[in-house]
Amino acid sequence: MQKLASTLLSLYLSLAMVAASPAQARATAPAEQTPIIDYNERFLPIVGRTGMVVGPEQLATEAGLRILQQGGNVVDAAVATGFALAVTYPRAGNLGGGGFMLIHLAEDNRQVFIDYRETAPAAASRDMFLGEDGKEDFMLEYFSHQASGVPGTVAGMLYALEHYGSMSREQVLAPAIALAEEGFPVSFALNYELAARADRLRRNPEALRLYFKPDGSAYEIGEILRQPDLAWTLRQIAARGKEGFYQGEVASRIAAEMQRGNGLITLDDLAAYRALERPPIRGSFRDFEIVSAPPPSSGGVHILQILNLLENEDLAALGHNSAAYLHLLTEAMKLAYADRSEYLGDPDFVAVPVAALTDKAYAARQRKLITDQRATPAAQIAPGRVLKGESQDTTQYTIADRHGNMVSNTYTLNASFGSAIAVPGTGMLLNNEMGDFAALPGGANMFGLVQGERNAIAGGKRPLSSMSPTIVFRDGQPWFATGSPGGSMIITTVLQTILNAMAFDMNVATAGISPRIHHQWLPDELQAEQGISPDTLRLLREMGHQVKAGGRTIGRTQSIMLRDGWLLGATDTRRPGGWVAAY
Ligand code: GLY
Repeated sequence: MQKLASTLLSLYLSLAMVAASPAQARATAPAEQTPIIDYNERFLPIVGRTGMVVGPEQLATEAGLRILQQGGNVVDAAVATGFALAVTYPRAGNLGGGGFMLIHLAEDNRQVFIDYRETAPAAASRDMFLGEDGKEDFMLEYFSHQASGVPGTVAGMLYALEHYGSMSREQVLAPAIALAEEGFPVSFALNYELAARADRLRRNPEALRLYFKPDGSAYEIGEILRQPDLAWTLRQIAARGKEGFYQGEVASRIAAEMQRGNGLITLDDLAAYRALERPPIRGSFRDFEIVSAPPPSSGGVHILQILNLLENEDLAALGHNSAAYLHLLTEAMKLAYADRSEYLGDPDFVAVPVAALTDKAYAARQRKLITDQRATPAAQIAPGRVLKGESQDTTQYTIADRHGNMVSNTYTLNASFGSAIAVPGTGMLLNNEMGDFAALPGGANMFGLVQGERNAIAGGKRPLSSMSPTIVFRDGQPWFATGSPGGSMIITTVLQTILNAMAFDMNVATAGISPRIHHQWLPDELQAEQGISPDTLRLLREMGHQVKAGGRTIGRTQSIMLRDGWLLGATDTRRPGGWVAAY
């Protein structure tokens, strides 16, 4: 029996590797081993031994893996993947956006958090997106030159490389330059993503030139997309580092396009941009330690807050995705998101009470506000301040090696393809991250809702984010690294993914693919993915929850679990294009 199990496991391991990528086909499982996978689980991870990259797109993910195979460390691979995604995954991979990188350094047993979030240009002002009628001008806020914050990605990637990488700029940028210069076949996913945003991209002549054929038609699946201007920009960065982007010809082209389009970013804004290192946020759930994103992300704070609210419940006994569990989870989410709208912002500009919000005693008091079997209407939780809907088009990749070094990186242009405005001669799209500020603090937004004063616009400030690169530690060792796109849904996506592993003992694949819910206090709406049973939804409705079932998937995790020296990886297969590259 044992022999049969071991044979089946070996068979599974080799099949999983072949299915994942050619690189994985080369991996071999040792003859004798303790099973690391329970192959009765619903979804199975890809297995690697030495290095693994999990990301939203195949070519960039494999580029990261090759860097590991060439002797680079996880940070080298993360930087190479980040630049390569700017070429192969233009909806969210970027040079013109920003993000957060969480690194675990095994040798020093410490974690580093790099904040390369965009900043508001110096000339930005609190009311810049309000029309004469005092209402938000959403086209200006999301699809104009003014929608763009000063890009942080290049500074962030180079900061990571310089401080924690081991390779040269030329080495880690080489895959991205080759992909941009030589081109690559358009995948099903890219074809689909371009089609979904075609109307908006076509409105900008430079974006039309970059992402459509010379006659204006769409690239078919398998046709080669070349981006010589982007290759030129990447070469400037390879040759001159940060100055090659934030000063000199690239910066001049950005500033010129800003002037032409009535945008606010100047040469001074670009020269002043800095990536920052901040202490990551830390907390615990039972025996697990959670390390995640601090402000200006709201992610880590609210993941910890919700975990604190649930920590003393016997979640396993309630049953995964039972009505009782989802009720409790929803009520905890509502409390956290109510606090988000009030207390979160850029800590360099406003006081953010992180310690108080993540205090277990605070959670114990808040827990008393949750009623068994009955949904508390959002309006009774706190008055009037709510979170507006956020774009879902951020992206995540996660990298690990067998020594326990890990990187979880989330970065974004905000909306899919950002503002859909490209800077002529750079191959680069502009972000629309200014939309993550509260354009009208205390007033109604696009959804008839309101955001908090702490996230009001100011020059040099970083807009509040939900991006939540997270690493969970078990017995002091890195155990589970993950993150997700999804705007405000990032927080609840990452939360449920790690809860699935910590409280329900799921493997990394099942944890990332099991149906999720989302509630953000207001609108008072419980979103439920497909796959939660109608009976459960009925029970939730009977408790008073306003359930909205079906619709888009919530988030898209890219996760790695470390176990007994093995790397177990999973991409959320419910969205196209994700890839696990391992060896
Ligand atoms: N733009 C999405 C976020 O930062 O949360």
